[in-house]
Amino acid sequence: MKTEKTLTIDDLEFEVLISEEQLKQRTADLAAELSKEYAGKAPIFVGVLNGAVLFLTDLIKELSIDCEIDFIKISSYGNERVSSGQITMIKDFSADLHGRDVIVVEDIVDSGLSVQYLMRRIKSMKPASLKFVSLLMKKGTLKVDLDIDYVGFTIDDKFVVGYGLDYKQLKRNTCAIYQLKE
Ligand code: IMP
Ligand code: MG
Repeated sequence: MKTEKTLTIDDLEFEVLISEEQLKQRTADLAAELSKEYAGKAPIFVGVLNGAVLFLTDLIKELSIDCEIDFIKISSYGNERVSSGQITMIKDFSADLHGRDVIVVEDIVDSGLSVQYLMRRIKSMKPASLKFVSLLMKKGTLKVDLDIDYVGFTIDDKFVVGYGLDYKQLKRNTCAIYQLKE
């Protein structure tokens, strides 16, 4: 979807927060960092459906190393704008992560509960290494103590949509990221 200055979903209005150009640049930078860090290895990127799909595909195209991909689907939001805090597994990954270099790709970290859930679940499979990359991270919203290894952009605690992120499943197909207007 072409980038407009604002967009609306129901009666909510959103404005551009991160442009397509900024997303491309930062994604290329992160891919360069990862290519360096994992030189000589073929890590497996585990995308968290549905939000991380656009970011994951753009990220891996910029890598100079080999990689595999897999996906997991969990849900904590439903159709609301505030996380329910309850994580449910909808689709498990299919690869055997034992002994692998695993990089989980998230769209956004808010409370951190999703990442904490994934960390526990993947660690129990005994990967060789485990790191997390998130395109976005909200400021001051973590409810658990954790570190995200690679973060694209740190943003204010406002609801965002676009480039994979949705509200009521809509507006994932935009090239920019939009934030809710106050
Ligand atoms: P957490 O478990 O609270 O960290 O939430 C993480 C998940 O909630 C993300 O992977 C997103 O799918 C969703 N989420 C959190 N904040 C937003 C937002 O501002 N817009 C859209 N989805 C969000
Ligand atoms: Mg998500």
